[in-house]
Amino acid sequence: MNRNSFYSFIGPRGENIPVLQEYMNKLLNVHKGWREKSFPEDAVELDFSHWDDSLLNKYFTELMQKSISGIPAFHPRYVAQMLKDPSLPAVLGYFAFILSNPNNHAYEGGPQTTEMEMEVTDMLLAMCGIKGGWGHLTSGGSLANTEALWAIRDYKNNKGKVYFSEASHYSWKRICSILQINSYSEVPYDNDFHMDLNILEECLKKEPAMAVIVNMGSTGTGSVDNLEGVLALREKYGFHIHVDAAYGGFFRTTILNDAGELLPYSVEMGLSEYTYRQYAALKDVDSITIDPHKQGQMPYGAGAVLYKDEALRTAILNSAPYTYHMLDKPNIGMWSLEGSRPGAMAAACWLTYKTMPLNRSGIGSLLTETLMTAQKFTELCADANNFILAHKPDLDITCFYLPAPEPTVRSINKQTVKIYQTLSVENPEADFILSKFVLHPESASRILPGYSNSENEDLILLRTVFMKHWYGANDFYYVRELIARMTEITRNS
Ligand SMILES: Cc1ncc(COP(=O)(O)O)c(C=O)c1O
Repeated sequence: MNRNSFYSFIGPRGENIPVLQEYMNKLLNVHKGWREKSFPEDAVELDFSHWDDSLLNKYFTELMQKSISGIPAFHPRYVAQMLKDPSLPAVLGYFAFILSNPNNHAYEGGPQTTEMEMEVTDMLLAMCGIKGGWGHLTSGGSLANTEALWAIRDYKNNKGKVYFSEASHYSWKRICSILQINSYSEVPYDNDFHMDLNILEECLKKEPAMAVIVNMGSTGTGSVDNLEGVLALREKYGFHIHVDAAYGGFFRTTILNDAGELLPYSVEMGLSEYTYRQYAALKDVDSITIDPHKQGQMPYGAGAVLYKDEALRTAILNSAPYTYHMLDKPNIGMWSLEGSRPGAMAAACWLTYKTMPLNRSGIGSLLTETLMTAQKFTELCADANNFILAHKPDLDITCFYLPAPEPTVRSINKQTVKIYQTLSVENPEADFILSKFVLHPESASRILPGYSNSENEDLILLRTVFMKHWYGANDFYYVRELIARMTEITRNS
């Protein structure tokens, strides 16, 4: 396997910091030269020796200390939330343009970075298998989802219901409230946390849909809904399909060759055949949210929204008397919910996807590692006989529990809490950091039908997000250690 993308990071021990320093220096020199050469004939002199940087020095020292005193979420021992280092090209691309701070809301605010944003959007559309189409970067997944539903609502004259899954991101209810879409429904999930399509169809028979929101990587469990099934329902009932691939979208890179074409299924991809088929089908949907700041290796502040049909953007067209003058150029702000957006982020994405391409040899090679990690964890949990996966992981997120002495939800929760108190942010000395996944009693009874819950408690599961791609090292050293550590805690209590 080509390991080039694998090493395009600062590294868990800062192994690549000297390279970063070298590139930063190169960049600062080039940037200084640009400033010196811009309008040198102007008779204006500024004397920077007047600047007293003592206050900066004081607070910068304090800030530097803060910057190294948090949880080391860059470390493989942190498996709690969606936190990962940005790629090295992302840091450099961002830094290169933050110095001049372009704004991609109008073309004139950042011609180079607007062009880069359009190129990145085309790369993302191609990665999803969509020919043509339109899209742009956003500040994150919630904004991308909000804009998409706003465009859908206005394009469809707010006719019909919005269906999403009980496993969908919490923001969907908030978005419906903001957009004053009162007609929405949460469809229950099945045992694998996939939207239950039998229930969806029953709902569709009664109330036609404006849109169905499909999860391609739910936040809690990384579950991938049965998109093929939803596409078949679209044939029958007619509605807009929006895929919330904020977390999972980039996993499509694992199934693409260097030319961006779909590869036939193979187990080495790290996906199940079911999940592979849902990714293959992504090309047929109407719109997509996908977050470069999750598995796209970007720093926070990078989401994206993609539309198959450009006509959707006309529903949200906006103009202004003081900007958008270069109408033969892309003025992204005319068709987006957000106004000012950092050109630097487009540059960060551009440099990353040029050097770590959106296919199996680039980003896909990292994501196969994270998928393999979740598989290894599942396998080792089964061997240890101590931990039970609450679902078959579709991606690199797992939720699990410990066999309880009694078949009750309370008994499971007690076991979960024991581990969580030791291996989470609750313990400043924790040598692994996990998270929890909390299910309402009604969902709990579906996931664990054999467990009684007379106290009507939420079910608490343990959760790992194996987002980093380092776990395969030394025969899955960290995964083995994690299981050994959890086993030790259960034995000692
Ligand atoms: C599936 C999904 N959709 C939407 C979001 C919201 O994205 P953001 O936090 O970038 O606004 C998330 C965040 O985790 C997510 O996992």
